[in-house]
Amino acid sequence: VSDMLVDRFGRMHTYLRISLTERCNLRCHYCMPEEGVELTPTPQLLSHQEIFRLANLFVTSGVNKIRLTGGEPTLRKDIQDICFNLSSLKGLKALAITTNGITLAKKLPMLKQCGITSLNISLDTLVPAKFEFMTRRKGHHKVIESINAAIDLGYNPVKVNCVVMRGFNDDEMCDFVNLTRDKPINVRFIEFMPFDGNVWNVKKLVPYSEMLDTVSKQFPGLKRLNDPLTETAKNFKIDGHTGTVSFITSMTEHFCAGCNRLRLLADGNLKVCLFGPSEVSLRDPLRSGAGDEELREIIGAAVKRKKAAHAGMFDIAKTANRPMIHIGG
Ligand code: GTP
Ligand code: 5AD
Ligand code: SF4
Repeated sequence: VSDMLVDRFGRMHTYLRISLTERCNLRCHYCMPEEGVELTPTPQLLSHQEIFRLANLFVTSGVNKIRLTGGEPTLRKDIQDICFNLSSLKGLKALAITTNGITLAKKLPMLKQCGITSLNISLDTLVPAKFEFMTRRKGHHKVIESINAAIDLGYNPVKVNCVVMRGFNDDEMCDFVNLTRDKPINVRFIEFMPFDGNVWNVKKLVPYSEMLDTVSKQFPGLKRLNDPLTETAKNFKIDGHTGTVSFITSMTEHFCAGCNRLRLLADGNLKVCLFGPSEVSLRDPLRSGAGDEELREIIGAAVKRKKAAHAGMFDIAKTANRPMIHIGG
């Protein structure tokens, strides 16, 4: 067994997030600037064969979970081939997708058939007019439809990602929790994180402690579950509720010590930390004929450069990074 995916802190990387596209059918404030972002020309994006070749290298080195992200991953024309091929990889236990749910309802049966094992759907508000403000597009009802369609297809839980921002949706937390009463939904409240172009501001961040306070006042039976070290979320159960409630506390209580995640961006760059600016191209050596061993060396060296943790919220807010739409979360 190679140690290609083990870093200097003994963290084994078993979870690969692959961004399939930089395009999106929404324009969320927290993800990209109003004017959009510059798109990498299509020939410089990984093809589905290249994605498969690289994913195979990662899976044979210990990755057992792949998450497809974007941009909006369902906009990728060849998503069917990508899912079909990736789900055939021996050793892969989960093939997940994070999506905004806008065109998902139609595509769900196909995605399920091609091996998508779990779904995370982004939804930040239950109020259509606020949705239009945040995403600068229409389509709130389509996201709701997709969440219901996913439940009907048997996905359990369906994770709903809600980025909490002060003055925008912090008053809706308990409404979101109410969704978990009768539905197999895992609502995940996410601390707002800084990325290039999203005008992050500490005043807009609602810290975990405050979110927990708000929810437990109305739901005093909130009970913390035992989470594996590699979890991004702090998970909770409420007696009598079918679903669960979680908090993703990247800013005020980071979970870097258990980090098992690597990111392959749509342009073929490997990013070892969400907040580290350090990236290395896998596309370029691959296209100039590198063999598996050479690629393994490049990947291994990048993993060995990974830092113990991100630099803290004020420092990461000042450090250049990509816009979120390029990274995929
Ligand atoms: P599961 O695999 O279902 O646990 O989902 P996930 O949390 O790994 O992925 P998802 O795409 O749903 O991301 C939810 C939130 O967690 C987003 O805001 C991500 O940016 C954040 N997140 C995911 N991975 C990391 C990470 O490695 N570090 C930090 N700081 N945040 C992360
Ligand atoms: N802070 C926190 N979460 C974010 N996401 C996108 N941008 C941010 C941000 N600035 C979330 C999306 C999606 C997931 C991949 O990351 O809502 O659910
Ligand atoms: Fe891992 Fe970096 Fe996220 Fe920390 S900030 S959990 S090290 S990806």
